[in-house]
Amino acid sequence: VSAEKGGYKHFMLKEIHEQPQVFEDTLAGRVNLLEGQVYFEELQEFPIDFERVVIVACGTACHAGMLGRIFLEKFARIPTEVDYASEFRYRDPLVDSKTLVLSISQSGETADTLAAVSLAREKGCRVVSVCNVLGSSLTRISDWVLYTRAGVEISVASTKAFLCQMAVLLLFAIYLGQHRGCLGKEETRRLLEELVTLPRLIRDILEREEDICKLAKKFYLFRNFLYLGRGVLFPLALEGALKLKEISYIHAEGLSAGEMKHGPIALVEPDLATFVLVGQDVVRSKIIGNMEEIKARQGKIIALCCFGDQEVAEQADEVIYIPRVTECLLPFLAIVPMQLFAYYVALEKGCDIDQPRNLAKSVTVE
Ligand code: G6P
Repeated sequence: VSAEKGGYKHFMLKEIHEQPQVFEDTLAGRVNLLEGQVYFEELQEFPIDFERVVIVACGTACHAGMLGRIFLEKFARIPTEVDYASEFRYRDPLVDSKTLVLSISQSGETADTLAAVSLAREKGCRVVSVCNVLGSSLTRISDWVLYTRAGVEISVASTKAFLCQMAVLLLFAIYLGQHRGCLGKEETRRLLEELVTLPRLIRDILEREEDICKLAKKFYLFRNFLYLGRGVLFPLALEGALKLKEISYIHAEGLSAGEMKHGPIALVEPDLATFVLVGQDVVRSKIIGNMEEIKARQGKIIALCCFGDQEVAEQADEVIYIPRVTECLLPFLAIVPMQLFAYYVALEKGCDIDQPRNLAKSVTVE
């Protein structure tokens, strides 16, 4: 078994380290830098005349979907909603032939996601699915399939599949944006040129793994964590919290930082750790405000921000730096330290990382 793990102690760690490669694989053949264009071989005769997109997924895939919504609204200017598949299927949702349903699933076998897609089809929707497993049930009931090329993911906690889902969703949003005439070649080219540098930047982050390991040793005894983010980093806060609770069994809650004052701030005390994700856009100063409020109440802060962000570093107990890239690309970098942090906290606690208690890799029954 250890050979299968390629020298890593756990599949999760191996899969975290595979991310630069599978990211490149997922972009391969889909990005044309010279032309400033995105291609999807899979999207033959793909209509662009629908009025809105409804994304359905579960768990980590749904967090990717929340980011996908931001991408679709930003680059393709198409109204988009996201729903847990388990909610969508029982809500008698208002969808019709003018709705594109976008489902996301690593396994393609999640019962709720399959049921949501079947229902959407009954209601006349067209369905495009983002999936990692060739020929899985989901791919057989979808009109189009965009494959993530993450390779086999064994660890129950999803890592590399999530990264590839985000990549496909970004490409899909750019593709639609171009075909719907809301995204020009120059803008696309700039974005794509930056996108293809990300695998290298992820390799750089992985080289600083030791720092995250040390950080985990300082924090593994905390019993409660908040993860805060806004904008593109809000879904990432949810995903960071999910990783931690899945494998380390520490209670962790992901929040939009703007909601802090509406309740969660009541939890802040010296025993609460908060993981704050800080980007560079308009809400940055608001998040710094959140950090000040947490600090004033002696809460502990781990900040994840861009290199050189002194102002954030001053408010934090610990800082994790990531390279400065365009805001919408930050999630691709921000996820990696959070995965490593969850991993090393769980390792410190002696948890069964690849097979966490009570969880299944694929939830094929309701
Ligand atoms: C399970 C897994 C999660 C995954 C979710 C959705 O809960 O433990 O890691 O995100 O199912 O799975 P899917 O295969 O549909 O992406």
